[in-house]
Amino acid sequence: MQDLEWDAGRGVWLAAGAALVEEVLGHPALRVRPPAEPVPAAIAGGSAGEVFGALVRMNDGERHAALKLALQRALAAAAADGLARERALSVAQGLLAAGRPLGAWAFDAPVSTVASLLGFADAQLPAVARWMGDFVACLSPLSSAEQIGLAHAASLRLLAAMRELLQAAPEGTLAAAVACEAAAAGWRSDHAILANLVGLLSQTYEATAGLVGNSLVALQRGASGADPGALVAQVMQDDPPIVNTRRFAAERCTVGGVTVEQGQAILVMIGDAGHGFGHGGHACPGRQLALHVAAGCIEALRGKPLPQLTWTYRASLNARIPEFKQ
Ligand code: HEM
Repeated sequence: MQDLEWDAGRGVWLAAGAALVEEVLGHPALRVRPPAEPVPAAIAGGSAGEVFGALVRMNDGERHAALKLALQRALAAAAADGLARERALSVAQGLLAAGRPLGAWAFDAPVSTVASLLGFADAQLPAVARWMGDFVACLSPLSSAEQIGLAHAASLRLLAAMRELLQAAPEGTLAAAVACEAAAAGWRSDHAILANLVGLLSQTYEATAGLVGNSLVALQRGASGADPGALVAQVMQDDPPIVNTRRFAAERCTVGGVTVEQGQAILVMIGDAGHGFGHGGHACPGRQLALHVAAGCIEALRGKPLPQLTWTYRASLNARIPEFKQ
């Protein structure tokens, strides 16, 4: 097994290779947030910061466990039959028929599908997708002050929309399933449930758009789209949208043969290690759903000749998401 390597330029440890990546993502002293900054300073104190601070993705220990279980159960049920892929196909076809350019479509189709599965009506999907675009723009350390302002406003709208959705409690929807599983797991905080419903859309937004986008790149380079499920699974191996994640030492500890000091960060190269959906306690509970949604989106392109695509990659520290000019 490789040792952790110190990257002096970035001031972080690097963990590469499947065995080391698994050790880091399973280590109890390594947490998803720096102990001194549970919410990024740039968004702390506003609505987007409150949502961020409540996400299972951004917590360890008790604040993570019960809601994670609830999300896992609800998302597994949503992925269990062919519904998610069919919904993605119909949402993605609808956006194409409305003339959405491919570049915007790759972002809007997956998030609109998950919003539809949550229980939003078709007429609400464009607004939800737009707010989510504003919201995720604040999650990167590269975000500008203007993006952060828009994200707080979008966060308030999204929380209100989720509250209305739960009040209407349409049976059989993903939102109702999450609330029901959360109650069964003993979770009582309404804000945390609403925030994590918003979190499902934010986890979908860039990562699944990246999987759809990287699949378009593969098609352009000659891959076969005859079996969309096989294509997206292959793209997750060869060109995954999430290439790294981070962990922070809550205390001095030994990892991969070296001593990591309290507060130090580890950049975990999950993409190259074949762990594009993560691993261990924080592994992605939306994995199956994401594969179905991406496959449904690709299926919507069947029979439509792809234009000659040109693209650049979205500025990001952890993701590889093409932005198409078309
Ligand atoms: C191709 C699409 C996706 C990819 C590549 C992806 C990847 C990941 C990765 C790598 C993590 C773990 C991050 C870490 O440990 O630091 C994660 C966590 C998570 N993902 Fe996904 N994801 C995708 C789509 C989705 C979708 C569609 C949903 C739900 C609708 C979802 C829900 C979540 C949640 C709730 C977490 C937090 C889990 C936890 O912290 O315990 N993801 N995802």
